[in-house]
Amino acid sequence: MTFIVAIDGPAAAGKGTISRAVAAHFGFAHLDTGLLYRAVGVKGGDPVEAARSLTEEDLARDDLRSMEAGQAASRVAAIPEVRAALVDFQRCFARRAGGAVLDGRDIGTVICPDADVKLYVTASAEIRARRRWLELGEDADFDDILAQVRERDDRDMNRLDAPLKPAQGAVTLDTSAMTVEDAVARAVAEVSARR
Ligand code: CDP
Repeated sequence: MTFIVAIDGPAAAGKGTISRAVAAHFGFAHLDTGLLYRAVGVKGGDPVEAARSLTEEDLARDDLRSMEAGQAASRVAAIPEVRAALVDFQRCFARRAGGAVLDGRDIGTVICPDADVKLYVTASAEIRARRRWLELGEDADFDDILAQVRERDDRDMNRLDAPLKPAQGAVTLDTSAMTVEDAVARAVAEVSARR
């Protein structure tokens, strides 16, 4: 049996934490689709070729989580041929037996519009930048991180192909004033209600 949970939202809103926790709670597989775009962004060369020939090794690089990789990802993610090259892999993953959680920007809108559960996880730009700043350590510059978060939001929300927006029927979870535990509990409750 398939069961698809689509989790979308802007940078550092808590999608990754919530997705991992939901997957662990229900025994579903989890795919962080941002990693695909990060891997294409850091690979160099022609991004369309990179997306068409992505390997396990590309996805295992240890520099995919950096701010630079995030910026590179959001630039290549605006190229329609890059997005098209990654669709089949994501849809196959979603349809696996036993259930799947996918998190990204266009899971509920484009990749799996028929997902069983759709969540739009968000928080204010300041709160999201603060979370990223805490993750990166105190040498990081908060204002620089906030500017990068806003730049990436702007690029992701205003691109022509698969812009970031809440999917039809998505439940919005604003985590600005929530603890991680609260946010996870809300997400688990939404999935439980639809199973
Ligand atoms: O972890 P964080 O939320 O900062 O970013 P991410 O989910 O790893 O995504 C990095 C970038 O990839 C985003 O800014 C988007 O431009 C792009 N992306 C996308 O276009 N579609 C997806 N399904 C996932 C990521």
